[in-house]
Amino acid sequence: MTANLMNDTQVALDAQWMPFTANRAFKRAPRLLASAKGMHYRSSDGRRILDGAAGLWCVNAGHCRDEIVDAISAQAGEMDYAPPFQMGHPLAFELADRLVAMLPAGLERVFFTNSGSEAVDTALKMALAYHRARGESERVTFIGRQRGYHGVGFGGISVGGIETNRLAFSGQLLPHVAHLPHTHDLEHNAFSRGQPAWGAQLADALETLVADQGAATIAAVIVEPVAGSTGVLIPPTGYLERLRAICDRHGILLIFDEVITGFGRLGASFAAERFGVTPDLMTVAKGLTNGAVPMGAVFARRDIYDAVCDATQSGVEFFHGYTYSGHPLACAAALATLDLYEREGLFARAASLEQQWETAMHALRAAPHVIDVRNLGLVAGIELAPRAGAVGARGFETFVKCFEHGLLARVTGDTIALSPPLIIEPAQIDEIASILRDVLGSVS
Ligand SMILES: Cc1ncc(COP(=O)(O)O)c(C=O)c1O
Repeated sequence: MTANLMNDTQVALDAQWMPFTANRAFKRAPRLLASAKGMHYRSSDGRRILDGAAGLWCVNAGHCRDEIVDAISAQAGEMDYAPPFQMGHPLAFELADRLVAMLPAGLERVFFTNSGSEAVDTALKMALAYHRARGESERVTFIGRQRGYHGVGFGGISVGGIETNRLAFSGQLLPHVAHLPHTHDLEHNAFSRGQPAWGAQLADALETLVADQGAATIAAVIVEPVAGSTGVLIPPTGYLERLRAICDRHGILLIFDEVITGFGRLGASFAAERFGVTPDLMTVAKGLTNGAVPMGAVFARRDIYDAVCDATQSGVEFFHGYTYSGHPLACAAALATLDLYEREGLFARAASLEQQWETAMHALRAAPHVIDVRNLGLVAGIELAPRAGAVGARGFETFVKCFEHGLLARVTGDTIALSPPLIIEPAQIDEIASILRDVLGSVS
């Protein structure tokens, strides 16, 4: 181990191959988090860091909540693990029931995974299995969207719309995939407050794809209602409604990837509720357990479950599952999390803070480099002008300086994404804006 690979915790950094990280640069100048409580992290050098990102869009109820910690710890002592194949345990069924009670009408079945990526691949398989069960096994094409992020499984990167997530893997993708255009257009929509007024017609590209490919070959359309990972892209008014109508017209399933938007982020239980558009399948993760234990899920229309089950005479109906599907610790964490969301009215709280959030974020319009501000619920994207020949450099420098100034933000390209825990206090909204304004003043 070399001296410059040591840090203030005296932990050697060489061995871990870090995900989605510039490993060599990080290990030269690490940013290490040591503990967390409520709205704050503490860095390994003892600084308080205001969490403007809910960790990674996960920690909607704030960090290290006693109720969740206690539930996990009690469950670890009671039953640490239970096999999920041909066996079950009550907590997983209880959790599925609780979730169905929160979902838009029609979504009545829950399949547990361990992550958003797994939820996405599971939902894609469900779509194929459903069509096959109904005698439409030629429906194998998936339609994703440019700038979509659906995790990192081969299914997810295929339907996702991020080139860099594919380039290193020699084109080994799902074979039948097409993409819709994304909806981000600064010329028409810069500095929109809430949903942009322009852009619903972009959904009509789906009709064109249907005409090109033939409706009878298309299994499903998958979109994030609000795209987070590619820089907070808010759907234009009427856009999701149009996608829904076109899917209905052609017997195509609509999948909403709500890994980021689920569990209160938009001031409603799910984006589906906020926008009044119900998908046929929905993927979630992150806020499901407040990030405390890995867990994801797919919510399915009841008749999708019925069709797949009824297609099999006896025995296993869906050849898919994970060793840790419905893990007892994750179930305990999720149930305690749902209790907290409900008891503290956190989704309504997010809705009640939206106006202040919007005002504070849009005031950053006057800060240096800002070319767009967009917001919905407790999410905002602050897009910066890229440096000539160095896309992403200014965004990354801003992210690093925010951390040095006591704010955890998220950066994608030159967009700073903010999504604080829903327990944020009004004064902390102003603090986020103030740190970001100062930092932008110091970034070249
Ligand atoms: C919309 C969306 N889908 C899927 C994923 C993948 O989730 P995970 O990282 O838990 O696999 C993410 C992660 O950020 C996401 O934002």
